[in-house]
Formats: sequence, C-alpha cells, structure tokens
Amino acid sequence: THRSKVTVIGSGNWGSVAAKLIASNTLRLRFFHDEVRMWVYEETLPSGEKLTDVINRTNENVKYLPGIKLGQNVVADPDLENAVRDSNMLVFVTPHQFVEGICKRLVGKIREDAEAISLVKGMEVKMEGPCMISTLISQQLGINCSVLMGANIANEIAVEKFSEATVGYRNNREVAERWVQLFYTPYFIVTAAQDVEGVELCGTLKNVVAIAAGFVDGLEMGNNTKAAIMRLGLREMKAFSKMLFPSVKDSTFFESCGVADLITTCLGGRNRKVSEAYARNGGKRSFDELEAEMLQGQKLQGVSTASEVYEVLSHRGWLELFPLFSTVHEICSGLLPPSAIVEYSEKLPRSF
Ligand code: NAD
Ligand code: 13P
Repeated sequence: THRSKVTVIGSGNWGSVAAKLIASNTLRLRFFHDEVRMWVYEETLPSGEKLTDVINRTNENVKYLPGIKLGQNVVADPDLENAVRDSNMLVFVTPHQFVEGICKRLVGKIREDAEAISLVKGMEVKMEGPCMISTLISQQLGINCSVLMGANIANEIAVEKFSEATVGYRNNREVAERWVQLFYTPYFIVTAAQDVEGVELCGTLKNVVAIAAGFVDGLEMGNNTKAAIMRLGLREMKAFSKMLFPSVKDSTFFESCGVADLITTCLGGRNRKVSEAYARNGGKRSFDELEAEMLQGQKLQGVSTASEVYEVLSHRGWLELFPLFSTVHEICSGLLPPSAIVEYSEKLPRSF
C-alpha cells in the first residue's frame, strides 16, 4: 500500500501521549496506516512483568502515563529494529541524552524514504560545536528531520485539555503539512513555522529558564521575581538562538513553542518542580537524587541542557552576555547557592 506507516521512538510521559494523539488520527485519516508502533525501552516492573507486555495487554503505559488508554491500534515493541522496519514516518521522543545511541543502532535499518520529526527538547555539544537533536538525527540517518515543540505538558494533553503546538520545518511545506495532520486534533492545534532551528531552540532553552523559575519558587521570592526571570530568560533564549543561527525568526518566539511553552513549563513542568525542591533543600540534595525520587523514572532535561549551553558559551567567549543561563549552570553544579539566581543583575550587559 501507499499508506504512510508511523513509528514512535520512545514511550515516556510525552512519548505515550504522542502515540495516543497519532493513533487517533491514523485511524481517522486514510493516508495513514492504522497501526502505530511504539518502541519501548524495555524494563521489568515491580510485578515482574515486562512493561511492553503490560502496555499491550492493558493498552496503558502503566509506568509513564497511568490511567490513559493509548488506543487499540498502538502496538508496543521492545525491538528497535523491528519497530522501524516498515515505517516511513519516524517520531523521535526520548530524553535527549539517549538519541545519539538510538540513531547509531538505526543506521542502515530504516526505510530509504523515511522522514523524521523530533519532539525531543535538548541539544548535544560536539567538538565542532553545538548540534541540535534534529540535526543529529538528520546527519546520522541521512534523512530529513522536522520538529514539534509547544506548550505541551503531557499529562494535560493526555486528558484532552486544549493546547497548541508548533511544527518547525526546513523547506518542504508538504512534509510539514503531513506532520501537522498526524498530530492535529480539535484539542491539539498545530501550526507550521519554517524555522526548524528557532522552534527547536525555543523548546530546548526554556528548560534552562524553568530551572531558574523553580529556584525562585523554592526561595519563595514571589510572582514579580518569577516574571522577571522569565522575561530575562526569554531574552537570552532569543539572543542565543540568533547568535547560533542568524536565520532564526523573531516571530517564532511568539508561537506556542516560544513564550507559551516558557510560561507553562515555568508554572507546571517537571524541571520547575525538581529545581524548587533543590532550592528548598539549600542545594544539599543533588539533582540526580531528587530526579530519581520525585520523577520515578521520568527525566529532567534542563540541568544537562544548562551544562551544554554553558559549554557553548564558554567556548565562544559569550558567558558575560548570558548571565541567567550561566548562573543556572553554576547553581546546578554547586558553585553558587540558589539565591544567586537574582544576584546577577549587576552582571547584565549594558547592551541588553
Ligand atoms: P520521560 O521523561 O517521561 O521518560 C523517560 C523515558 O526514557 C522512559 O520512556 C524510559 O524508558 C526512557 N529511557 C530510560 N533509559 C533509557 C535508555 N538508556 N535509552 C532509551 N530510553 C531510555 O520521557 P518524555 O516525557 O516522553 O520525554 C521525552 C522528550 O519529550 C524530552 O526531551 C522532553 O523534554 C520532551 N517533552 C516532554 C513533555 C512532558 O510533559 N513530559 C512535554 C513536551 C516535551
Ligand atoms: P518539563 O520537562 O519541565 O515537565 O517540561 C515539559 C514541556 O516541555 C512542556 O512543553
């Protein structure tokens, strides 16, 4: 058949919700094959059962998205190679630190006509410099890669509360439209923007600002301070994105992937939650420890992203230009106390 076949690579909190959204559309739209494969990083549950088996028996991801039916046409598959074999639409949605390893295993195993989209918020830093996750996927697999980012706390979309998202694409509008159709529902409004780097950098960098917002909450500094941190953070997001990629558009920051994702993550995200706890404990308990205890297997992206951004900033001699980003990393790595998040204003460059 000529129908497009979709595989979701990843099955965490957002991965599972993405599979649910997609599965509702592949059943409805004739140009998609009904079945959606979802690759599961296999684990054994306390009951002794394999997560994959439980998902396929109950139609729920009992560990990462309990209580939500994914749709009968979602098939969990622990075998990565098998999961991608027949698919021409690959949806990447794992924590960013795992993408490179997954891509290495996929080389030579995917269809030649495959297209990818990344829902992954994060970046890698190579010897040559920063590498966005969509670029990593593109380069490793030799395929085109779009992105989907937005104000999308997974648990809210799982219960079909209204939200919006942005597809970022490079140059093929038709490909972007196909991705929009795959995700779009009346409660999940997706629009396309021709600015893949801008969209992806928004999704990546707001996690660093969310860590800062969590410190403000943990120190009980109030709403004005938090709003100030969000504003300063947004400004650094924009400046950093444009310095890395001059093609990044101002308008992207006003899409769902920009200011809206920044707001929702600073109000209700996991990065905010764990960094609040970090500040409440006066930095005495590590982020790794708090992540494991509070998130039960779900992963933070903000702390590692702050470190990756810091590496880029120090390498390029830009540290002074980005006091918020650099302070977040210095707090996370124990060099500064959480209260330093508001003690950097004298460091602000005059040009800002
Ligand atoms: P998650 O944090 O809920 O779960 C972690 C996942 O990583 C699990 O599926 C686990 O099985 C898997 N994993 C653990 N070790 C692994 C390994 N060695 N190799 C491969 N996989 C491994 O995941 P998520 O929420 O779906 O996050 C995926 C991406 O989506 C992240 O970049 C995140 O920032 C982004 N995102 C999340 C949300 C959200 O609300 N959860 C919303 C938008 C974007
Ligand atoms: P957290 O990972 O901080 O929960 O953010 C989720 C997100 O990206 C919302 O769009």
